[in-house]
Amino acid sequence: MAFRKKTVRDLALAEGQAALVRVDFNVPLDGGRITDDSRIRAALPTIEYLRERGARLVLCSHLGRPKDREPETSLRPVSERLGELIGAPVMQAPEVVGEEASRLAAALKPGEVLVLENTRWEPGETKNDPELARKLAELADVYVNDAFGAAHRAHASTAGVADHLRPAVAGFLLEREVTTLEGIVESPQRPLVVVLGGAKVTDKIGLIERFLEIADTILIGGAMCFAFFKAQGREIGTSLLHEPDVAEAERLLARARESKCELVLPSDIVVATDFSAGADHRQVPADAMPEGWMGLDVGDETRKAYADVIAQAGTVFWNGPMGAFELSPFAAGTRAVAEAVAAAPGTTVVGGGDSAAAVAQFGLADEVDHLSTGGGASLELLEGKVLPGVEALDDA
Ligand code: 3PG
Repeated sequence: MAFRKKTVRDLALAEGQAALVRVDFNVPLDGGRITDDSRIRAALPTIEYLRERGARLVLCSHLGRPKDREPETSLRPVSERLGELIGAPVMQAPEVVGEEASRLAAALKPGEVLVLENTRWEPGETKNDPELARKLAELADVYVNDAFGAAHRAHASTAGVADHLRPAVAGFLLEREVTTLEGIVESPQRPLVVVLGGAKVTDKIGLIERFLEIADTILIGGAMCFAFFKAQGREIGTSLLHEPDVAEAERLLARARESKCELVLPSDIVVATDFSAGADHRQVPADAMPEGWMGLDVGDETRKAYADVIAQAGTVFWNGPMGAFELSPFAAGTRAVAEAVAAAPGTTVVGGGDSAAAVAQFGLADEVDHLSTGGGASLELLEGKVLPGVEALDDA
């Protein structure tokens, strides 16, 4: 699958030129400690490539969704971790743009790295303010976007900056993510099996509609299956239900009947008295869920059936947990899918967010072909939407 944009490989960098590199360092933090550094690691090939070529690196990223300059959303823990990973000092600017950021950027020597502060500390970031974009652009000679996880955002640092700074090219991570995910929809090895979980149908409508046209099988799990059951007139007890999902599920079931793609719902469910690890629980057929109980996972029969379909797949794409995997008695469905995906001989791709976290939690991250760093971005790309962070870059 050819990538349609220029990449860092196309840059003719002169020693000492500055590259503004947008990365997605939006990592989970617990009291200032990074609990998963995969997004930082995923950006290393681009960072190392540019350093080896004598570029001066000005990195920028958002972190969380700050309303103001909350110190707990500073990128400092991230720049410290990056320094450990590259084995070299990484400077942390106290601001996104401004005199001090400009001074630090100008003082960089070839191969040195500066991390700007959280881009969302600037109100202009999410508004894609041209003034902020221009100030960011002034810090460097070239723009590199490697922030796949934020490529669905038309923000100043992900899109607007490219109006003021050329060349504007993709980093290796962005290129790999887009190529792999586009490959799933454009030329998958068949059968193409899509496993979708998570809480809400409404979050995945675009994806289900697209895959009803492209995939051979869609396996549904997670709390979203209750909207489908409800649409079929079944009892769902006290299971989590997002009421507007029922009409959507009904519509999708009707579409599935006309499609060549098989939409599969769980045949059995683990029900519990309440949402807690200590809750009384048991397995029941999906068409016999008792009143007053809530479904928290898919049952044994479903796990086995889904694992069998995954094992036969030429390509598997998985997004969204099968149950409340954060509570250990209800993790078996998600674990079974993670293990089946890890063992599958076909090409395996896992969307970012909860499913990527589950794969990591089960120690299977190295067993899948591609673990996306993008949550929303990977879904939007697969739905066929244009990603502003990719569109803004120079055409190949
Ligand atoms: C993500 O975590 O999905 C990306 O970093 C984008 O973050 P956002 O949803 O806050 O824009």
